[in-house]
Amino acid sequence: MKLVDNKAILSFSNGAPSVELPIYAGSIGPDVIDIRKLYAQTGMFTYDPGFLSTASCQSAITYIDGDKGELLYRGYPIEQLATSCDYLDVCYLLLKGELPNERQRNDFHKLVINHTMVNEQMQFFLRGFRRDAHPMAVLTGLVGGMSAFYHDSTDINNPEHREIAAIRLIAKMPTLVAMAYKYKIGQPYMYPQNHLSYAGNFLRMMFGTPCEEYKVNPVLERALDRIFILHADHEQNASTSTVRLCGSSGTNPFAAIAAGVACLWGPSHGGANEACLNMLEEIQASGGVAKVGEFMEKVKDKSSGVKLMGFGHRVYKNYDPRAKLMQETCNEVLTELGLENDPLFALAKKLEQIALEDDYFVQRKLYPNVDFYSGIVQRAIGIPVNLFTGIFALARTVGWIAQLNEMISDPEYKIGRPRQLFTGSPRRDVPPLDKR
Ligand code: SDX
Repeated sequence: MKLVDNKAILSFSNGAPSVELPIYAGSIGPDVIDIRKLYAQTGMFTYDPGFLSTASCQSAITYIDGDKGELLYRGYPIEQLATSCDYLDVCYLLLKGELPNERQRNDFHKLVINHTMVNEQMQFFLRGFRRDAHPMAVLTGLVGGMSAFYHDSTDINNPEHREIAAIRLIAKMPTLVAMAYKYKIGQPYMYPQNHLSYAGNFLRMMFGTPCEEYKVNPVLERALDRIFILHADHEQNASTSTVRLCGSSGTNPFAAIAAGVACLWGPSHGGANEACLNMLEEIQASGGVAKVGEFMEKVKDKSSGVKLMGFGHRVYKNYDPRAKLMQETCNEVLTELGLENDPLFALAKKLEQIALEDDYFVQRKLYPNVDFYSGIVQRAIGIPVNLFTGIFALARTVGWIAQLNEMISDPEYKIGRPRQLFTGSPRRDVPPLDKR
């Protein structure tokens, strides 16, 4: 980041001395006002719950232009990556900053594929959960539990440990997600097969059984790989910020990523794809397209507390570029499976069309986000609704690790410790029991 000539001058109407604050520019996107010395100079904090106007760090990984609807991973547009690369190429890019050449690509793919098995003990760890537990509860436990197995990669300040932990997490997440699924449905776990692709391996671990050969459908394999790419990273969203804050204490990478999994579970964040599919099924059950108008009235009536899940975004005030690509993937998969008349897909497109013409949504710049179509395509592939966010966590693991490693290798980083505006009781003495 570079200091610019422009300065921010903070003046006070009560005549207190004004404060000059430096301004820094990045490579693209908004400049920042450096307020690090503000408290020392004024005795005051800034106030920004939800961080609507706050940059928590500098990063070179992912750039989003919410007005243009642009998403770049290390400078490459998501549209090009989703069509010209596979997910492991994108993992290499996010972790190392450049796309791999042929040799680097083969070495990296082999490295990841050869780390897909988990410690045999982990299956006993799973047994402690109820079979009807939500897969995200199980996954939060399993990912955190990895720090109980891989002691040779828990020192986050050791670059070798960070490298090994990154490979282990990227490689083992599909195995853990598939194990959580198999555990829930009472089927035996499927061991990874090194001759399969990353997405193909996951499909087989999810839907294969020891009783017969599992044939990977190349259209579903490609669709799943694209879903992973679209969810790989997204700047300083809630779960990434959670991972950074958690990791800033120096805890091990597995614990920090487990914190990200827990945060992603929320319906306002990664849990939105599950909530969106449930919303579509509810509308379908109550009458389908004919009931869309009534549903939209509820959404616009704030007192109903009903939101159009899969719509809106803190940063995108234009169409989420991932939603467009997800809709295309949806089309491809439904056509491949002969489900092009899937009623939920028709319903989703109707909802989108009405929302994009409705003043309530237009005024608030509410567009479909990554979660709006992802549930429909995952459901068509056969992934159960309550595992959608687990797929999101699988794909986002590389983004979390890249952001965590970027923070740890930044010489400026400190443990994150925000302050507050205190509104509670001033000092008072404890009254005796008979006086309370
Ligand atoms: C993800 O941050 C990321 O990058 C996240 C993510 C990633 O890749 O990591 O992109 C993944 O989490 C995508 C978002 C998934 N969540 C949902 O689809 C849930 C539904 N969306 C909303 O909850 C909401 O849009 C958020 C949480 C996504 C964004 O909320 P903001 O930025 O805090 O905006 P807001 O709630 O202040 O909304 C502004 C206005 C409000 O109305 P007014 O008070 O101005 O009258 O828009 C309304 C909101 O009530 N609004 C919605 C709405 N989203 C916002 N109204 C109906 N339906 C919605 N979905």
